[in-house]
Amino acid sequence: MVKTKIAVLVSGGGTNLQALLDAQREGVLTDGEIVLVISSNDSAYALTRAAQAGVPAVVCSRKALGSQAAFEAAISQALSDHGVELLVLAGFMSILSADFTSRWPRRILNVHPSLIPAFCGKGFYGLKVHQAALDYGVKVTGATVHFVNEVPDGGEILLQKAVEIQPGDTPETLQRRVMEQAEWKLLPQATQMISEEIRREKDQ
Ligand code: GAR
Repeated sequence: MVKTKIAVLVSGGGTNLQALLDAQREGVLTDGEIVLVISSNDSAYALTRAAQAGVPAVVCSRKALGSQAAFEAAISQALSDHGVELLVLAGFMSILSADFTSRWPRRILNVHPSLIPAFCGKGFYGLKVHQAALDYGVKVTGATVHFVNEVPDGGEILLQKAVEIQPGDTPETLQRRVMEQAEWKLLPQATQMISEEIRREKDQ
């Protein structure tokens, strides 16, 4: 079986990257192999996780590269160098242009820490999403894994899981519960689903 080659794109702590690496080790992610980690930030702890797992990593910083076009060209080069077939955005905090996403239809996954279409789109990322849910006063939130297209958080939804908000939650406690109960399960599950689909297409 030729596994689907996966790149995981990160910007921060990389707990979702870790969930994917663990899923690979534990036999939950069986049809895909993480061959590359791309970080938009050279001090992301996710880079340490990649090194510990022996996965090659590159840093592509929009700021350092000077333009969106140069940033996306660097990402594209790294993807082609490693023969990547599926991209997984796991806490990747840079926006990808329509030009880029249109070259990867149904081949980019993202995990978002809310039940889309609530608390999503431009400006909703990381702890801000959980702060917005608490400010609104919703009693249930969750996580969503979706395909990435030209609309921020607007692509087709693959998986969602609800998580209850508890009295006294802070953005930090809520973020942790959403990660533990939803993100770290859904993202490996969806990655396996699409890796299998790509692998089957190649086998035909
Ligand atoms: C995760 O909660 C992820 O869903 C969120 O950032 C966090 C990254 O954590 N992503 C977004 O908000 C994207 N819009 P991690 O680096 O520990 O995986």
